[in-house]
Amino acid sequence: MEREFWTERWQAGQIGFHEGEVNRHLRQYWSQLAPTPDEVVFVPLCGKSADLAWLNECGHRVIGVELSELACRAFFAERGLEPEVSRAGTHTRYRHGGISILCGDFFELTRENLDGATLVYDRAALIALSPRMRERYCRHLVELMGSDARGLLITLDYPEQAFSGPPFAVSDAEVRELLADHFTIDRLHHAGLGPDDALVQRGLEAGSESVFVLRG
Ligand SMILES: C[S@@+](CC[C@H](N)C(=O)[O-])C[C@H]1O[C@@H](n2cnc3c(N)ncnc32)[C@H](O)[C@@H]1O
Repeated sequence: MEREFWTERWQAGQIGFHEGEVNRHLRQYWSQLAPTPDEVVFVPLCGKSADLAWLNECGHRVIGVELSELACRAFFAERGLEPEVSRAGTHTRYRHGGISILCGDFFELTRENLDGATLVYDRAALIALSPRMRERYCRHLVELMGSDARGLLITLDYPEQAFSGPPFAVSDAEVRELLADHFTIDRLHHAGLGPDDALVQRGLEAGSESVFVLRG
């Protein structure tokens, strides 16, 4: 997807992907990574997700990256927080306490930007990208995080013809194809979407979610 696509969606308020509450899989499965509070968590394509705040409440310093300036500002404003704004290479850093959001392109991040992050949390990032971009995304993620990283990855799958993404359908087989050279991959959860799921409400009749733990 082009950058304009996302910035326009934020401007138009078309952010059906935004959950408002902490993701239930994050709450349930984060401990599977055996995270320690001193570890920094990287959240690619973070939007203004409440998951950033939850991870910080677990004791982690959190670094997100997000294209939309509107989203970066909204995350802090909605919590009544005034972020400190500074330059971080090609990105603008919005920071308050232990949460930083780097405003700019994920693909332009360098390892220095991630401050030694050893954990990664991907919800609606990989599945937000077209097939060609997904390969590039995984390559860059591995470059950024190094080979010892651990992470939680939440994906969505559905019959190709059932919906026009994003979010895109990403099969469990594709997850393994993209990441198995770099991580041990365990699937922790796989289930059909429930009637209350936002995508079902938008007309997707059959789909499933998977949650993976990745260990470098
Ligand atoms: C589907 S949303 C998911 C947001 C968040 N992970 C969540 O769970 O609410 C994808 C987000 O990625 C951002 N995005 C898309 N491409 C990006 C890129 N190349 N670099 C940084 N952010 C990007 C979009 O602006 C959008 O907010």
